[in-house]
Amino acid sequence: MDADIGTRISSGVSMGVLLLLAFGIYHRHRPRVHIPVMLVSFVIDLANVILIEVRRGAVEKAISTASAPGEWILKLHIAVSVLSLAGYVSAIITGLRLLRKNQGRHVHRVNAAAFIFLRVMNYLTSFYV
Ligand code: HEM
Repeated sequence: MDADIGTRISSGVSMGVLLLLAFGIYHRHRPRVHIPVMLVSFVIDLANVILIEVRRGAVEKAISTASAPGEWILKLHIAVSVLSLAGYVSAIITGLRLLRKNQGRHVHRVNAAAFIFLRVMNYLTSFYV
């Protein structure tokens, strides 16, 4: 695959975040490790999205192709990307509840499973857009 240097850096960062997430989940029962690692992953992922937007105008491309036929892989990529960012937000909300009240462990776990699926899909589909 012929990708420019910026795209390669973004892909490398994205893979790095996946490894960081795996590390954070491995330490899921050690909140002092788990929480900062997950929050840092979120910040890096957000920064990476902003970088891609600045370089390639990804949001404009997403909007302009939203109602166009075809490009289903791009639409899938956009969908899993937006949903995985939403997954971070709900992980923070459910995680804070778990931390403060020791409630909602099941919800946090189910959110985590959905989030990881979406985040891996985000990485895989990024090579086809
Ligand atoms: C995408 C980000 C995150 C994922 C995928 C994730 C995933 C998980 C998983 C799988 C567990 C184990 C649940 C169980 O079966 O017992 C866990 C535990 C926990 N998480 Fe998260 N988490 C994320 C972010 C956060 C954040 C941002 C916070 C806090 C603000 C947080 C707080 C906690 C707490 C307090 C526990 C329980 C630790 C314990 O067992 O003592 N998580 N998380």
